[in-house]
Amino acid sequence: MASTPVRGGLFGRVKPLDAILATAEKKSLHRTLGALQLTLFGVGCIIGTGIFVLTSVGAQKAGPGLLISFVIAGAVCIVAALCYAEIASMVPVAGSAYTYSYAVQGEFLAWTVGWALLLEYAVGASAVSVGWSNYFIDTVVERSWGLNFPDWLSSGPLILGGEAGGFINLPAMVIALLMTVLLVIGTSESAKFNAILVAVKVTALTLFVALTVPAIKAENFTPFAPGGLFGGFGSGVGVVGAAATMFFAYVGFDAVSTAAEETKNPQRNVPIGLIGSLLICTIFYMVVTAGAVGAMGGQPILGADGNPLGAGEELSRQCAMPQNAEALVCSREPLAHVLHTLGYGTIGNLIGYAAFIALPSVILILLFGQTRIFFVMARDGLLPEALSRVHPRWKTPHIVTIITGLIVAVAAAFFPVGRLADVANAGTLYAFLMVAIAVWQLRRIDPHRKRAFRVPAVGLVATLTVVGCLFLFFNLAGEAMMVLPIWTAVGLVFYALYGYRKSHLGQGRVEVHETEVTELEPGIPGVDDQDRSPSRT
Ligand code: ALA
Repeated sequence: MASTPVRGGLFGRVKPLDAILATAEKKSLHRTLGALQLTLFGVGCIIGTGIFVLTSVGAQKAGPGLLISFVIAGAVCIVAALCYAEIASMVPVAGSAYTYSYAVQGEFLAWTVGWALLLEYAVGASAVSVGWSNYFIDTVVERSWGLNFPDWLSSGPLILGGEAGGFINLPAMVIALLMTVLLVIGTSESAKFNAILVAVKVTALTLFVALTVPAIKAENFTPFAPGGLFGGFGSGVGVVGAAATMFFAYVGFDAVSTAAEETKNPQRNVPIGLIGSLLICTIFYMVVTAGAVGAMGGQPILGADGNPLGAGEELSRQCAMPQNAEALVCSREPLAHVLHTLGYGTIGNLIGYAAFIALPSVILILLFGQTRIFFVMARDGLLPEALSRVHPRWKTPHIVTIITGLIVAVAAAFFPVGRLADVANAGTLYAFLMVAIAVWQLRRIDPHRKRAFRVPAVGLVATLTVVGCLFLFFNLAGEAMMVLPIWTAVGLVFYALYGYRKSHLGQGRVEVHETEVTELEPGIPGVDDQDRSPSRT
């Protein structure tokens, strides 16, 4: 570990880019990934609970206008992806937006980004765990095995937004803990296994489209947007309110950027991988939604004021009424439910099984992302260093993984999927916004540094990203919006009491580590095959 002095002060604590890059250069992983593999990896990270589960949540907010919600959320992700592509190909190291921000905006803001990423990855992993639990209970246990799963074990309590009679979501908690154990013992899914899971998901969605699109009835699209385009600031309903929630369906594409340093010809392949996977998913999401809403109807349940009911007690009560028993917007496993309603029971079950098989890998990827960010923050001295301890046998940051897993499991046990997704989105939107600003700042302060990929019209793209993120953020449900400032305030107290004093950079140490975080086992899930030994040149 080498040390060089650095200047102090809160906003002066900027980690020199050269030190970050020196760490990355020490390992120089083999560049093996091509555009196709990267795109497949992206699709593997992206498709999950968003389309398989949140479709019903989105339909309750927007009605058939959900189609447009996917376009809006996808457009924001594409401009954000371009910014990620530039910075990831330039600073190809672990830590994602946190590391980028540290190098450009300084430690204080980087801390807030790292802290917000906990919402993206950890709360995101909780949301996917709950989505998985829905398919496990409804498709596997109840439809397939014919057993009755107790209500009190299938959802969080009503008071936390769960369902009537719910107390704890046991399957969601168990799957989160199971994925944690796999990560602790160093299990990673290989690129081949990821490709198989991508095929399972894509085949399931294609089958769904093939069966539902011919059954579309034009009248199911009227009214098209019963909640209006804007449901109102903080209401979380309307087409844009649904876009803010369905943004979750795209979360995960930033994981592609973490594979930038293992990509051949990154100038060409990283943007193809990022944008290609986003475009493929946007098209799938739109066609699947058109099939679901068009074939069986997806009108929201309206409140006394004529607007769609937001998530909460009244909606749960309405969904428990017999006349709403079959409503798409009340279904916990909407894609399987649509096919069952149309009379395709067996294929409905197959689609349920596809979600059951494929969603755990999304949990694994999000958990992995979280542990690596915690690890880097601990190694920078901003979190207790014990967290960055690596297990002697499994070569994994086991302490940080176990803590992350417990947080994810507890959140999954008690909160509903829609709320978790909204909170994850709040943190993600903040991180994306900071990355866009960082890319632009870096162009100004360090214009001559080599960039493997340059965003075209960077001023325009960065501005669109910032505006898009703010727009979606302010259209989230009010409670999700409030979580970000409260969470940031908690983080700042922690920083003031701990990180500010313990920061290695603050103590004048700039470290170039012999072991970069991505050398730990397991490698990036879905990207790395067995041999990931670094070529030290
Ligand atoms: N985009 C991922 C999903 O929908 C996180 O599950």
